[in-house]
Amino acid sequence: MPKWLKDAIFYEIYPQSFYDSNGDGIGDIQGIIQKLDYVKQLGCNAIWLNPVYDSPFKDAGYDVRNYKKVAARYGTNEDLCELIKTVHKKKMRIILDLVPGHTSDTHPWFKQARQAKENKFSNRYIFTKSVWDAPQEYRLMCGLCERDGNYMVNFFSSQPALNYGFADVKYPDWQLPTDHPDCKATVNALKDIMKFWLDMGADGFRVDMADSLVKNDNTKEATAAIWADIRNMLDEEYPDAALVSEWCNPPVAINKGGFHCDFYLDHIGNGYNSLFRGGSWGDKAFFNKNGEGNIRSFTDEFLSYYEAAKGNGYISLITCNHDTPRLTEYLDEEAIKIAYATIFTLPSVPFLYYGDEIGMRYLKGLTSVEGSYSRTGSRSPMQWCKGKNFGFSESDTTYIPVDSDEKAPTVENQRRKKGSIYKVVKDIIKIRKKHPEFSADGEFEILYAEENSFPFVYKRGKYVVLVNPLDRLADVKFEYEIKSELYRIGEYIQSWEKMTLSPQSFAIIEI
Ligand code: GLC
Ligand code: CA
Repeated sequence: MPKWLKDAIFYEIYPQSFYDSNGDGIGDIQGIIQKLDYVKQLGCNAIWLNPVYDSPFKDAGYDVRNYKKVAARYGTNEDLCELIKTVHKKKMRIILDLVPGHTSDTHPWFKQARQAKENKFSNRYIFTKSVWDAPQEYRLMCGLCERDGNYMVNFFSSQPALNYGFADVKYPDWQLPTDHPDCKATVNALKDIMKFWLDMGADGFRVDMADSLVKNDNTKEATAAIWADIRNMLDEEYPDAALVSEWCNPPVAINKGGFHCDFYLDHIGNGYNSLFRGGSWGDKAFFNKNGEGNIRSFTDEFLSYYEAAKGNGYISLITCNHDTPRLTEYLDEEAIKIAYATIFTLPSVPFLYYGDEIGMRYLKGLTSVEGSYSRTGSRSPMQWCKGKNFGFSESDTTYIPVDSDEKAPTVENQRRKKGSIYKVVKDIIKIRKKHPEFSADGEFEILYAEENSFPFVYKRGKYVVLVNPLDRLADVKFEYEIKSELYRIGEYIQSWEKMTLSPQSFAIIEI
């Protein structure tokens, strides 16, 4: 386990939209280098960089054409190397995005695989035996290749699935078992890509669709076995490198796959979703001030994940990411502050999505850009200051349009504003870093989390955290003596053995 992880606070950078250093309307690596001090000042000590590899951009770079080459629009491999070095100089870490499940259909491997003549890459992807062979249970692209066969896709149609084999081989004439040498070769190719970037200094990877490798793998054990093997490689050769999965199943991803962290993602009906987006458009979210939410939807699931993963790895709570509408779409500003304060004080390795710290809006009604569809609104350019494109770019057009609201929050105005979201994020990160009790492996105990009831109270070592998202008072039995106050949003009063919290409040108290 890389020691740095328990205290890591990640900042997710969507490179297209962070900072454009050369005025072409698209964010780039030199732009990120220029803004590193901003990330550091906020208190984040690690970065997750979305894909920056050569790609035809049918899925914003998650359709990789060359795993070892930085896309020209972001810069060069030398720029990425410089970014990594600069990050390290600032005593921070950076993990890259690894897309193991599929490539672009323009990847040279695929160009070979789709040829009629058998070659070294014929089994790098999953092809049926003939074009007339197209079982409905698989997502197959039919009749597009010279080769007589249909290929399986992993996400969009332009993203053919790499072949790691099948756990349960149903059609032996085209489905290979995972121990087939050609499937092993795919794993080796993946390891080779990882080593390439780790040797350049990368601190690890966020792994895209980590659960998608092996097909017909209901229990996901075969997929996990591949990751466990990769984890062994890391332990032996790169013990400081972190592996973070987009899986959302910590017991499997962490305990079986060997991931150090697993994202707790926004899946309809799950515990994480119930906090911010529960019900219809957040009307039953725990952090919605209307009080229709139920904290147990979160704590029951979170606790089971937490207990299962404890000792082996961490759950990663996110403020949002590039695939999900920003919280501003569901919650008011006060609710967001309390939500973030909670995320950063629960036992987790947290990820802050760029722009969330200033309360950027989810922009509705935008046309899809590079396969973003409904995700476009969460991928708009970072708002740095007032003026042209909010300081993001000198260009007349930007990758995705900037927020059309002139009064949109910017780093500049959020820094000045008393009690802004930015200030809350900065303060709470500072507290988290100063007090090891809040680290990912600090003690954690739930003191009060009852069905449809408020507040939510938990303990991290000697600190008690109280959360009242309601637009009205909430009280709870509280028998401790208050030694000191570490932080608060709103007010609280202790009388007798009861604690009463003001509407939309949050407090950290030393007992
Ligand atoms: C992941 C990424 C998403 C991408 C997809 C396919 O979910 O986060 O942005 O489109 O995988 O690679
Ligand atoms: Ca640029």
